[in-house]
Amino acid sequence: MPVGPSIEELHFADAPSVDSVPGPDSKRLLERQQEIESNAVAYPRRVPIALDEARGATVRDVDGNTFLDFFAGIGVLNVGHSNPYVLEGVQEQIATYTHTIDFPTEARLDLIERLREIAPGDLQGNSNVVFGGPTGSDAIEGSIKLAKHNTGRHGLLAFEGSYHGTTAGALSLTAGKAYKDGYGPLLPDVVHLPYPSASDETAVDCADALEAVKRKFENPYGGHETPAGIWLEAIQGEGGVVVPPAEFLRGLRDIADDNSALLIVDEIQTGIGRTGEWFASDHFDVTPDAITMAKALGGTGLPIGAMLYHEKFDTWGPGGHVGTFRGNVPAMVGGIRAIEYIESHDLLSHATELGAYLRDRFAETAATTPEIASVRGKGLFIGIEFVDADGRPDADLVTEIQQRCYENGVLVWNAGRYKNVLRLIPPLVLTEQQAEIGADVICRAIETSTGDSK
Ligand SMILES: Cc1ncc(COP(=O)(O)O)c(C=O)c1O
Repeated sequence: MPVGPSIEELHFADAPSVDSVPGPDSKRLLERQQEIESNAVAYPRRVPIALDEARGATVRDVDGNTFLDFFAGIGVLNVGHSNPYVLEGVQEQIATYTHTIDFPTEARLDLIERLREIAPGDLQGNSNVVFGGPTGSDAIEGSIKLAKHNTGRHGLLAFEGSYHGTTAGALSLTAGKAYKDGYGPLLPDVVHLPYPSASDETAVDCADALEAVKRKFENPYGGHETPAGIWLEAIQGEGGVVVPPAEFLRGLRDIADDNSALLIVDEIQTGIGRTGEWFASDHFDVTPDAITMAKALGGTGLPIGAMLYHEKFDTWGPGGHVGTFRGNVPAMVGGIRAIEYIESHDLLSHATELGAYLRDRFAETAATTPEIASVRGKGLFIGIEFVDADGRPDADLVTEIQQRCYENGVLVWNAGRYKNVLRLIPPLVLTEQQAEIGADVICRAIETSTGDSK
């Protein structure tokens, strides 16, 4: 008997249903926000909605418009907004106790055990989990400390196109200059090397990319301290849903082993079933030394970050890595319930099948749309890359498509080094019918927008 309601029962039945947007009540809240909140607010500038209620893969704004949500809080709501099975456990927990720093609780230990069971490769059963601060960036900070502590080195190696967060250490690993320009100096001896792509023949070659990594470790005149670790997203998210060739991860594994460095895979956006496996590392048959998690780990958007690492690196003494908010028990219950819901409704297979269906639909459109340079991804982690008539990245076209999708009731987001990739990360509870309707809206938006640009 599956836990909770079926995925069909989770959503607003009428989505998408959109009048003229933004409606008057949304406008009022958006204007009020603009007056009093920081100018740093970003999402409502491109998707001007104010939410009233959200369920499953659908959201309703304060004017009563309903949308299909194809970005799910940027990979947070894998089991959908307000999943009743998750909420039930979370609400019970909130009424009992919420915060325990790191005193043991059933929920804390159950979540650790579940994560050890679903961890990639040889990490299964051989790993420890540490909670720190509640964000993905906090988990990355923990991973930097883990690698430094275990190697006695401070150099860090990451990749072009990467996004690892915005705290000082994580920002040092992030490649996007828009996030870091003006804030240097950040951590010293951090290098960013090319990241190869399996779906873009113009991207850097895998063997060349691996050679560059090897040289950073082995060339005595390489110019940086030997790295303590290699950080990568197994599929780059913010960088444009870039899937590397499997040889890349396997090659990195060998280089890390040969040089006593840690291989740290950032699963913050790809984890907890997003790509049709529990973790994106699973697609490449490689066991990382550590994985970082956050986003979907709290089940229903509750903040929790964690790192799972091989037990041989558990060298910290008591208090070796701490943080006040490492005991968010409702978020831990949310995580356990989300994992149970995914298992019970076989959402890994569902994400694989629905992702293949969506990519096929976009590939059909691509066959008659030269502006589409590539359709890629795994599971429900999908990128569609757009270029102009000269083959240059076309961010404006993506903005136009995003606007059309919004006006027709489908929320999508962008990504890519040049913001020219449409990024689709719907909840894993998206139904077949919703996938079909969503694809119709997105394909129509692409056709109309590319028709306009001709
Ligand atoms: C791959 C990856 N790493 C790290 C982060 C940072 O997480 P947070 O925003 O929770 O600090 C993100 C956030 O988008 C991410 O996608």
